[in-house]
Amino acid sequence: MLVSATEMLQKAKAGHYAVGQFNINNLEWTKAILLTAQELNSPVILGVSEGAGKYMGGFDVVVGMVNGMLKDLKITVPVALHLDHGTYEGCYKCLEAGFSSIMFDGSHYPIAENVAKTTELVAAAHAQGVSIEAEVGAIGGEEDGVIGMGECADPQECKAIADLGIDFLAAGIGNIHGKYPANWKGLSFETLDAIQALTGDMPLVLHGGTGIPADMIKKAITLGVAKINVNTECQLSFAAATRKYVEEGKDLQGKGYDPRKLLAPGFEAIKATVKEKMELFGSVDKA
Ligand code: 13P
Repeated sequence: MLVSATEMLQKAKAGHYAVGQFNINNLEWTKAILLTAQELNSPVILGVSEGAGKYMGGFDVVVGMVNGMLKDLKITVPVALHLDHGTYEGCYKCLEAGFSSIMFDGSHYPIAENVAKTTELVAAAHAQGVSIEAEVGAIGGEEDGVIGMGECADPQECKAIADLGIDFLAAGIGNIHGKYPANWKGLSFETLDAIQALTGDMPLVLHGGTGIPADMIKKAITLGVAKINVNTECQLSFAAATRKYVEEGKDLQGKGYDPRKLLAPGFEAIKATVKEKMELFGSVDKA
């Protein structure tokens, strides 16, 4: 059964580790992530952007697929199904479809409007036992058409949003979706420290987990980050493994074109990436 992400993230914050949010794109992604979480006895959050939800056929398809896998694959670790960077309308659609967690990304609204919409969505989510993440300070880079400049969040605005009853908070600290540019200045731990000082026990979320060096990840966890989002890195490892299979001509040998064979190396590559991240984040054996 899907669970809200609140309890797993409160435990993570108190225990000084982070739970990974891994974005899903299709059945292979979902199965690879769920099986790895089960093997490592780790809680996990499946992230679904609105674009990925549409790609998979719609939010009802996603909920049906994930619930089916939890049952048939006998997944017993805590799993949350979370809308990533949701719009106001998208949040309501996911609440209706049966997601167990949502993110309302109101970071591009003026702060007063972000506060008003977040307040309304907190009530709607909590009425269904669904957890809710909010965002202050845009995350840099581009994800599914959502473009942010990578500004650092204002700690006072973070406090204003955290006080609305949300369950976890994404705050821009110089992080960027996708690959980091060579001239990236790194995470702003000063900003993170100031945000945690004002938001206390609130689990903080680090978006743009792909390509952040391990020492920065570890430091961010010591400063209150309890959820780390990873998307691009699974895409890169899937693509590299699939490329290798095709370039070696394996799809042309025997029944190598069978999708169950063609997609197998990519599937294993996602599993390896998720395992590496769960070990780095410290969520292994925390189910
Ligand atoms: P990356 O694609 O950089 O891993 O970021 C993922 C993310 O933050 C999803 O919200």
